[in-house]
Amino acid sequence: MENKQFFIKTFGCQMNERDSEIMAQSLSRYGYVEGMEVQEADLVILNTCSIRAKAEQKVMSLLGYLRKTKEKRPHMKICVAGCVAQQEGKTIIDRMPHVDLIVGTQNIYNIGELLLDAEAGKSRVVTQMEDSYVIPLFLPELPSSKADTKEDKTTFQFSRFVTIMQGCNNYCTYCVVPYTRGREVSRKVQDIVDEVTMLVQSGVKEITLLGQNVNSYGKTNEVEFGAPSFTFSDLLRRVAAVNGLKRLRFTTSNPKDLTDDLMSCFRDVKNLCPQFHLPVQAGSDTILKAMNRKYTVQQYLEQVKVLREYCPSISLSTDIIVGFPGETDADFEGTMDLLETVRYHGSFSFKYSDRPGTRSAGFENKVDEAVKSERLARFQARQDEISLERNAEFVGLEKEILVEQVSSDSVKGRTDTNHIVHVNEPLKVNVGDLLTVKINFAGQHSLKAELI
Ligand code: 5AD
Ligand code: SF4
Repeated sequence: MENKQFFIKTFGCQMNERDSEIMAQSLSRYGYVEGMEVQEADLVILNTCSIRAKAEQKVMSLLGYLRKTKEKRPHMKICVAGCVAQQEGKTIIDRMPHVDLIVGTQNIYNIGELLLDAEAGKSRVVTQMEDSYVIPLFLPELPSSKADTKEDKTTFQFSRFVTIMQGCNNYCTYCVVPYTRGREVSRKVQDIVDEVTMLVQSGVKEITLLGQNVNSYGKTNEVEFGAPSFTFSDLLRRVAAVNGLKRLRFTTSNPKDLTDDLMSCFRDVKNLCPQFHLPVQAGSDTILKAMNRKYTVQQYLEQVKVLREYCPSISLSTDIIVGFPGETDADFEGTMDLLETVRYHGSFSFKYSDRPGTRSAGFENKVDEAVKSERLARFQARQDEISLERNAEFVGLEKEILVEQVSSDSVKGRTDTNHIVHVNEPLKVNVGDLLTVKINFAGQHSLKAELI
């Protein structure tokens, strides 16, 4: 079969990154190889995100640009996958005739076949979503050292994602995910363990378990025969025990379902990395209630306290939305106070935007754009200061790094706390090695270290 090239661009979260790997692997069975240039591609896939208005705008403008590319290369196929495809697929196809195929979030596994079907005149919009969806068993491609970019960097294949569940039943009022990813479904324990085992046996050192809401693992469908109440912490312990796995992480969590049992894993499970992303969204109970988050600031702070008791070295990060409808100056001060209390190692903060189908899109008392911008800038400036102070706490410590990049005169790696570390020395190490170094400098976004 003659090889055709595809180019895939991924927006959004790590779930999407994993989905892009799945589509790439699926396409390889249909004679496609991955290329690095849009201009040379026979197929361009945009794996999209619709979490915020800005993310969606990026997709739409890229589709506009691709219209011109396709005029020069008429045989090029354009496919839109992911969350925007799921929600806006029909509109996109109607308005943009240069798009050949829309693939919804539950339909990515047979993208190759769907492309052939579309070419044969069958449906160009495939976005069926089922409540009783079963995430297909799809064993990952084993690590290889294929080229990652034009510069010929080696793809970092020693750290991999494993999806454990998909969808979300929480209905936070601002969030589009229940509409784009559907109802919550969990994969079977054995499938997950098998996938992790296979990856580790082929040399993978670090696994990140993925789900929109991992704390709800196992709540909506039975995941282990004979054990109806198998929880996420049970899964963590099971995966952590896979022989040879050095580092385990997971994302994303909702504080409302965070149990003491799960928090204690940070104390008891030795290869669980001391790093936790725990989105709080806001530091005001009124706003948390309007967001339907189902926890209070006090309850959240209590969790932070317990986590730090169980694991003093834990590095915490969070997500913040500023300017949710009705957010007053006093509410926003609550968010600033929370930042001072927790002193996150890092955070992702966003201006609230209306998303189609969400409840908050219909709320009155929207906050002025200028006010949102001002609040966001203030939050981010303070977080930057705190991150730098937090990073400075590492100076003088010995840390193990997982090597991600090696060049003739430097090495880049990551600590268990997920901090990037540069060692500016020529070292005889390989990507994927674990290396103990001494941190000697803290910057805003990374640390520097020397070999001991
Ligand atoms: N507006 C702004 N930010 C949002 N997020 C989710 N929905 C919205 C929205 N409508 C943020 C939340 C979430 C992160 C992934 O994106 O902080 O945790
Ligand atoms: Fe974006 Fe959420 Fe979809 Fe991930 S699940 S791609 S963050 S909208």
